[in-house]
Amino acid sequence: MSKIIGWVDDRFPLMKMWNEHLAEYYAPKNFNFWYFFGSLALLVLVIQIVSGIFLVMHYKPDAELAFASVEYIMRDVPYGWLIRYIHSTGATAFFIVVYLHMLRGLMYGSYKKPRELIWLFGMFIYLALMAEAFMGYLLPWGQMSYWGAQVIISLFGAIPVIGDDLTLWIRGDFVISDATLNRFFSLHVIALPLVLLFLVVAHILALHEVGSNNPDGVDIKANKDEKGIPLDGIPFHPYYTVKDIVGVVVFLFFFATVLFFFPDGGGYLLEHANFVASDPLKTPEHIAPVWYFTPFYAILRAVPDKLLGVGAMGAAIVLLFFMPWLDRCKVRSIRYRSKIYKINLAMFIVSFVVLGWLAMQHVTPTITLLSQVFSLLYFAFFIVLFFTSKNEETKPVPDRVT
Ligand code: HEM
Repeated sequence: MSKIIGWVDDRFPLMKMWNEHLAEYYAPKNFNFWYFFGSLALLVLVIQIVSGIFLVMHYKPDAELAFASVEYIMRDVPYGWLIRYIHSTGATAFFIVVYLHMLRGLMYGSYKKPRELIWLFGMFIYLALMAEAFMGYLLPWGQMSYWGAQVIISLFGAIPVIGDDLTLWIRGDFVISDATLNRFFSLHVIALPLVLLFLVVAHILALHEVGSNNPDGVDIKANKDEKGIPLDGIPFHPYYTVKDIVGVVVFLFFFATVLFFFPDGGGYLLEHANFVASDPLKTPEHIAPVWYFTPFYAILRAVPDKLLGVGAMGAAIVLLFFMPWLDRCKVRSIRYRSKIYKINLAMFIVSFVVLGWLAMQHVTPTITLLSQVFSLLYFAFFIVLFFTSKNEETKPVPDRVT
């Protein structure tokens, strides 16, 4: 074995990479539950790529055949139902894992200097993931695929001057049609997965350049032994590889439960209207995006003017990019930050969840009013953060991890 590794090592930096990124990558020894979600996001990425490859073997990206080919996968392809449900459940799992991963970043100030780029790469991953999920949803060519895409693409029409030409360019036709399906297929199966893979590699390289943050927000590189190894660091392998396997087992338990017992999630994961083939002449009674987009959809619906609504929805995402500069507090971890920060973050999470629920309800004056109130609360997070974080009353941060 060592001879083979030696042979490879003379020609390729195998052991160098293994050591740099695993065996001699020193991670803080106080990682908790919240640090499972990065490796879980990697796992779900692999699950989606592998199940996607098998789906493409039987799926037909053709407006005449797409819906029937998905039914064929579900009924006739051996274990086709399993492959499809793995992929559809994986989409939801991806967003749950990524949202929890982002929340961890917010709680422990992981976006702060020197980790701004890790955060920015993460935000671009999030954007690419949203585009990936949106385009994938058109492929089954059901009623919700068709009309959901219709609603979202028509939003671009609100942009002054170029709006109409832009929507035409995106659709490749005057209505959503075979041309749209083909290009979404191409982007979903090859272009965006490549972008995602590239961004994930950049994300992890940036992380390994500066080192991981931790629940105390303490800089472990400030205290090293005589060999230059951080006193509060442990090698990623075997310590965190083993710990992450525990996370994987627990995750797969939940994943399998949804996959085998609730694959449509009561209409929240696979919407009921999407079991009906798309019909350009018949609008479904109630069009709502899948749950992971609903908070932003609620912000869009809360604003009466279409252009302003689109702007507000865009701002809700763009503001997150600026977290490293909006948060001016020196202390990273929520453990040592003020009550104001804790309440502010809690209100942000509540407003995000409530907005998500509001977008799933039929529009009534009360629902609109509530959407407006919670949209304001959502944006208030960033404003309050910017103005209170500079002179925040923080607790003393320990020198070493606790
Ligand atoms: C496909 C999606 C993603 C994958 C595979 C991924 C992967 C990872 C991995 C493996 C880590 C190191 C382990 C950990 O700290 O949990 C990490 C850290 C991190 N990620 Fe992600 N990530 C993804 C998306 C995102 C997104 C959307 C954001 C935020 C916008 C983000 C922000 C961060 C930050 C700030 C860290 C450093 C955390 C710390 O050191 O405390 N990531 N990511």
